[in-house]
Amino acid sequence: MEMRTNSIDKQINDIFAKMDFANHPLAVKIQKGELSKEQVKGWAKQWYHGFLGDADRWVAEAFVKCPVESMRRALILNACEEALGVESKTDGHPVLFRKFVNELGISREELEAEPLTPEAWASTLNFWTIREIPWYQFGALFLTSESEIPLAYVKIMDGLKKHYGVSDEGNTFFRIHAAEVDEEHTATNLKVIREYVTSERDREECIAIVKRTAGLIDSLMNVYQKY
Ligand SMILES: [Fe+2]
Repeated sequence: MEMRTNSIDKQINDIFAKMDFANHPLAVKIQKGELSKEQVKGWAKQWYHGFLGDADRWVAEAFVKCPVESMRRALILNACEEALGVESKTDGHPVLFRKFVNELGISREELEAEPLTPEAWASTLNFWTIREIPWYQFGALFLTSESEIPLAYVKIMDGLKKHYGVSDEGNTFFRIHAAEVDEEHTATNLKVIREYVTSERDREECIAIVKRTAGLIDSLMNVYQKY
């Protein structure tokens, strides 16, 4: 049993080590100020639609499906953080992100009207698979967003402030994800994987979900190339 859990942790770590989100070209280029303002704006609009606009609902779906009380508590807190910012005492994450987007000079109308790229569609549809997958696979689906993407946010918020005129307030969305909030969510995701993903078939599915999700998020981060 111990070996099994170790091996699934190792497989997940190997996937993340290969993806290296902390040094994703998007994060590195924003930190160095190498993207045009239009590219940053393009990525921001697609990130909103493909990655975070509906996150409270994805987590709430996981809450509804979860039969384990202690994990349900963690999930509902996570959903409340996404929707309202209750743990970070800020605001709903889409609200915070729109403040950032607004500082880039994008109006709410422009943001909402932006056509989704295939990358944003693929990412949002992947997160909506929370409705179809077994309840204990929510950890596999949410792990990349909560354990890996904050690593990229550290560089992104640094570059946004230095090169793209984003204020500390405008960077709140990135700051709260780079700080403590996501650590607890990561712990819940790993706990469900270690304790409930036990059969060979479920472990294979778990790894497939992590790989697919990490790949789709990577593609969505590269979407700046289209602008
Ligand atoms: Fe969030």
